[in-house]
Amino acid sequence: MVADIDKFNYDWIKECMRVLKDDGTIWISGTLHNHPSIGFLLKKMGYWIINDIIWFKPNAPPQLQPNRLAPSTEIIWLASKTKKYYFDYEKAKELNEGKQMRNLWVITAKRHVTKHPTEKPEELLERVILLGSKKGDLILDPFMGSGTTGVVCKKLERKFIGIEIDDEYFDIAEKRIKNHKILQAPNFSFKKKILESDANRLIILD
Ligand SMILES: C[S@@+](CC[C@H](N)C(=O)[O-])C[C@H]1O[C@@H](n2cnc3c(N)ncnc32)[C@H](O)[C@@H]1O
Repeated sequence: MVADIDKFNYDWIKECMRVLKDDGTIWISGTLHNHPSIGFLLKKMGYWIINDIIWFKPNAPPQLQPNRLAPSTEIIWLASKTKKYYFDYEKAKELNEGKQMRNLWVITAKRHVTKHPTEKPEELLERVILLGSKKGDLILDPFMGSGTTGVVCKKLERKFIGIEIDDEYFDIAEKRIKNHKILQAPNFSFKKKILESDANRLIILD
């Protein structure tokens, strides 16, 4: 039901915004089933929509039923609480051969390293995290899945909190983040606490 999707999205966006710093940003990715609801709610709840980023996957699989176009994009809503938010514009240029970065991101979907069905490419999360945060910042992923955000946070020296409702996926993410070897930052240290709560399980990288 549409109303159920809106209610679910409203509740978690409200909670994320509650803990987001005043100059922080929220990056929400999704496909057709969800992104109209997210865009509508961000506006309705009074947040500042900074960009709608289109992630184009040039190697998306073909559509089997001959009744629609082959889906090959995801939208990432980038929003904040105020107009004074952190965004590393120079880093975006640097990642784009010195030119202003546009909101169309062509990133090939990679072969998955876990069993999770919607594992994102690390390259996508690297871009999000580099543009939206500084070293040492704390990043929350409330839908952690296979732990891609956590791995990239570890790699880029950000602190991380990940929440995942599914026990199997949580274990996959935990193992993946734990086993990820840091090549660039040999002095980076972290401690991991795992907390149990009623429904969700939580990883904290600190
Ligand atoms: C699209 S996947 C995330 C994929 C992730 N970005 C990755 O790279 O693997 C969404 C995840 O959210 C989890 N999830 C769904 N509802 C949840 C909830 N209420 N609380 C926590 N996790 C939830 C699902 O089990 C799923 O693993």
